[in-house]
Amino acid sequence: VSESLSVPIAEAHSPTGEAALRAALEAGGVGVWELDVPNRRLSVSDVCKGHFGRRPSEAFTYDDFESSVHPDDRERRMQARADSFERGRDYDIELRVVWPDGSVHWLLIRAKIEREAAGRPLRMTGVSLNVTDRRAAQEALRESEERFRLIADSAPVPMWITEPGGSRRFVNKAYKEFLGLSFEDSCAFDWRTILHPDDRERIVRESIAGEASLQPFSLEARYRRAQDAHWRWMRSTSQPRWGPLGEHVGFIGVAHDITEAKQAQADLQRINELLEERVAAALAQKEEAETALRQAQRLEAIGQLTSGVAHDFNNLLTVILGNLERLERGARDAAEQRRLSMMREAADRGAKLTAQLLAFSRQQRLEPRSVEVNATVERLRELLQSSVGGAVRVETRLESAAGCALVDPTQFELVLLNLAINARDAMEGAGVLTVETGRASLGPPQRPEHPPAGDYVQVSVADTGCGMSPAVLERAFEPFFTTKGLGRGSGLGLSQVLGLAKQSGGGVRIDSAPGDGARVTLYLPPGPQAAAEDDKDRPPSASVAGLRVLLVDDDPAVRETAAATLADLGCHVVEAPGGEAALQALKAGGEPPDIALLDLAMPEMNGADLARRIHELRPGLPILFVTGHADAAMLNAIEDAAVIRKPFTSAELAARLAASKRT
Ligand SMILES: Nc1ncnc2c1ncn2[C@@H]1O[C@H](COP(=O)(O)OP(=O)(O)OP(=O)(O)O)[C@@H](O)[C@H]1O
Ligand SMILES: [Mg+2]
Repeated sequence: VSESLSVPIAEAHSPTGEAALRAALEAGGVGVWELDVPNRRLSVSDVCKGHFGRRPSEAFTYDDFESSVHPDDRERRMQARADSFERGRDYDIELRVVWPDGSVHWLLIRAKIEREAAGRPLRMTGVSLNVTDRRAAQEALRESEERFRLIADSAPVPMWITEPGGSRRFVNKAYKEFLGLSFEDSCAFDWRTILHPDDRERIVRESIAGEASLQPFSLEARYRRAQDAHWRWMRSTSQPRWGPLGEHVGFIGVAHDITEAKQAQADLQRINELLEERVAAALAQKEEAETALRQAQRLEAIGQLTSGVAHDFNNLLTVILGNLERLERGARDAAEQRRLSMMREAADRGAKLTAQLLAFSRQQRLEPRSVEVNATVERLRELLQSSVGGAVRVETRLESAAGCALVDPTQFELVLLNLAINARDAMEGAGVLTVETGRASLGPPQRPEHPPAGDYVQVSVADTGCGMSPAVLERAFEPFFTTKGLGRGSGLGLSQVLGLAKQSGGGVRIDSAPGDGARVTLYLPPGPQAAAEDDKDRPPSASVAGLRVLLVDDDPAVRETAAATLADLGCHVVEAPGGEAALQALKAGGEPPDIALLDLAMPEMNGADLARRIHELRPGLPILFVTGHADAAMLNAIEDAAVIRKPFTSAELAARLAASKRT
């Protein structure tokens, strides 16, 4: 068979060359064939026969060849043949052949065509190659790629494959949908154009670095989604791809939408921050409350202390003033008179101080009435002006809605005066003093001096003076706290203000900063519209001479002084150092007293209890209480007329005795 074969590719015609070529063709599995076209005579090499499932001993004709071609490939073969015969192309086809045993194989067949002068094909000389394995591999690859595409497209996350330059070779369905573009446009798309402006610079930097590293890398950024123009947080992860020679061939990437996670993270952070704020606020509040409590407790303790001091002081002053009065009456000359009156002035000042102390300890006897605050301010205007001096302008802003406050009118005026004097001191003589009135609705108190929550009549005194530092503000209400020089301030002004306000059921508030003036606002409970002032003053009955008085006081000096004063007034006095002794005296018979003068605060049996016991023995016996310091509640239980305050003058005592005797 082989001798009928000519080998046109071989250049060397030496026998060794031809043999070598044949061996090489055989070793490479390459079959050789030749076709005499006009005569349809085919000669093939053994290897070529093998490609058609024939043994070397079997015949293989052109008809055999044609019937071997797989029916599905026949048309394609005819077409290829026609193409090369008529258009002069080389014959080159891959087709399936069916072997006698029925198996199907893929063959690659190529041939050159020799033609006669007219162009008619004369002879085809070609090779055949069994490419079944390669086709199978190709098919497997195609299938694998198809599978990959299916998987990639069914994945709900964008995926892509890039080439070394960064251009995309493949993008999946989710990727195209995110961009709203076709496959080709998606591959060519510049994703920087949909990056959030705040992320752009960072992401471009990170992606360049990531690609250069040839390591897996992740990016997190916001991209605008085409379908709804929403910014979505995406985390993309890229893995490097490697070619068969170990060369880098680009990246494969996946992107996850992490918008919800980011949102949850932001929410969590906000919740945490909020929580921190809340805790800080709660702690601050606790701190504030504790400070307020400490301050309130301190003021309370000081109040108790001062009321005790005032009590003792009043007893001393009663003795001093009572005796002074008697001495003055018996003064021998003008010089002695003057010395005595100086002593009296000092004692009077002492009495005023104790009154202020009592005011602070909220144990003063107040006579609250409905006071028209605007009218009071108007009436005081001149007095205020003269207290602050001509260089200070006094202004008033009186709101007609201010109405009436329930407060002791005398104490109220004193307090306004006190505030004006503080303002004068702060302004060092020149500035503006503004008195303002109005109504206020307040929430819970923030400091001990503030009033409880509620509606109040407010009166404020503001100045343009030096103001107060936080340290001064903290202690301003404390009795005896003063920043003024020795002898200039006693530190009782503001404590008196606070005492009155608190005892009246209101409070005080100071707004002040260093160099920024001060505003002290008094909050008082509103009162009913004030009735026309009725003249309650009764003409005092001058004479109490001959009155029999039962005098009960536990303090011997006070009792003795009072007894002397009463004796001077012409009264007959029966003294008793305490309740039991007084009751004994009453039971002992003899001339019954016309009136009982009882110290209110006594050990064992106090004045109020004693009064009750006396009334059991002598119903209707008039009783006058003497008080320096006593529980405010106890005082309030007693009728106005039946109390005289220590220290008292003999005229006062006479007037009260006369009044009490009458009732
Ligand atoms: N209007 C104000 N401007 C600046 N500081 C003030 C003002 N009012 C009070 N103060 C400060 O508060 C302190 C206490 O005042 P408070 O009226 O209780 O006592 P005082 O004025 O020093 O003495 P007193 O009133 O008994 O004569 C003052 O010494 C002063 O430092
Ligand atoms: Mg003062």
